[in-house]
Amino acid sequence: GFDISKVLATTGATTLDPGFVNTASCTSAITFIDGDEGILQYRGYPIEQLAEKATFIEVAYLLIYGELPTQEQLDRFSGKISRRMMLDERLKELYRSFPRGAHPMQVLAAGIMALGAFHRDNLSVHDPAQVEEASLRLLGSMPTLAAYAYKSSVGEPFLYPQTRLGYVENYLRLSFGTPQEEYEIDPDIVRAFETLFILHADHEQNASTSTVRLVGSADANIYASMSSGVNALSGPLHGGANQAVLEMLARINDEGLDIKEFVSQVKDKKSGVKLMGFGHRVYKNYDPRAKIIKGHADQLLRKTGASNALLDMALELEETALNDDYFIERKLYPNVDFYTGLIYEAMGFPAQHFTALFALGRLPGWIAQWREQHADPARKIGRPRQIYVGEKDRTYSPINER
Ligand code: ACO
Repeated sequence: GFDISKVLATTGATTLDPGFVNTASCTSAITFIDGDEGILQYRGYPIEQLAEKATFIEVAYLLIYGELPTQEQLDRFSGKISRRMMLDERLKELYRSFPRGAHPMQVLAAGIMALGAFHRDNLSVHDPAQVEEASLRLLGSMPTLAAYAYKSSVGEPFLYPQTRLGYVENYLRLSFGTPQEEYEIDPDIVRAFETLFILHADHEQNASTSTVRLVGSADANIYASMSSGVNALSGPLHGGANQAVLEMLARINDEGLDIKEFVSQVKDKKSGVKLMGFGHRVYKNYDPRAKIIKGHADQLLRKTGASNALLDMALELEETALNDDYFIERKLYPNVDFYTGLIYEAMGFPAQHFTALFALGRLPGWIAQWREQHADPARKIGRPRQIYVGEKDRTYSPINER
């Protein structure tokens, strides 16, 4: 309870905007979102076209360099990335030292930080050649780091990446292959992951990207910025929602809750229960990414023979919410995380690992945003102001007199 007009009168023209609901932190030419219309474009290309036709590495190139690559540019880019997939053996020791069951996002954030320590020759943020090398190193190492985070959490041995395999193929083989058995690559599953990673590749100034930019604005090295992005993404209000959605569906299933009853719980603010995977700061319409994923979920679940019980429940939850005044009035729709977990689970990933998949997809966007920021001559260190509302001018009293 304080009078904001009085505070503003004394602090001048400082604006107070908790959560940056209406404050732009930068200009950007990477991703366009129209939240009312449900439009998402990367460098001007509609997400629907990219999700259907492009590969993830092609989209990474587009985000980072601004244009779609020619075949020759793409081959060169892919080659450079696959030659950087192998991790230093000592970095693997770090991974081995984590306890079984450690959360993959914690392991991944630590792994990215450590990667910078192993590649000290490309930490300069002012030398374009070093920035390029660090970008390629991060892109190349990420599938290995994410797969090893999974392997270490389940206590299985690490495999070496294979340069002859594509980005997504390598990632799936590193995650599910074993030294005894060659992992069988299914082109439909590879295509599904290409699409999922493309859908996650950038989303303008969300919490993790803003974190990447804020850390980057202090001229901290690119590895430090990306690791910070992973940490911000891990929260259940952001990327961690994909894990939270599956846990919510499993709870409804295990406790035999009626969907309508569960939705009533959500509407009762005192319950503290949220409908995870619903709502978005920018989308006040169906999240176009959720629309695409929903189309894939049924088909993929059928293909893998996974149980459809949770998908049926998700569909019923969505239908119930979309016809309920609480959600209609607040313009709450399914977001990208509502259906992804069901696919990841059907592929064999434990819920704990879902957010690391999100991070793998988001990395090119973070790199593109970091580079855009550093190329901007008007760049400044990020340093928000505050409105001080605490005590003033007090006199210290010795501890025995308090
Ligand atoms: N379930 C129930 N009520 C909700 C939900 C939800 N998932 N989301 C928003 N609301 C309600 C709020 O309680 C608020 O109600 P009020 O006006 O009566 O106070 C109203 O809708 C507006 O919501 P805000 O919290 O003000 O919206 P904000 O933009 O700050 O938050 C967020 C967006 C964090 C995504 C929120 O919708 C949420 O917590 N959703 C669930 C978590 C989730 O799915 N996160 C993933 C987002 S996508 C991504 O990061 C990749």
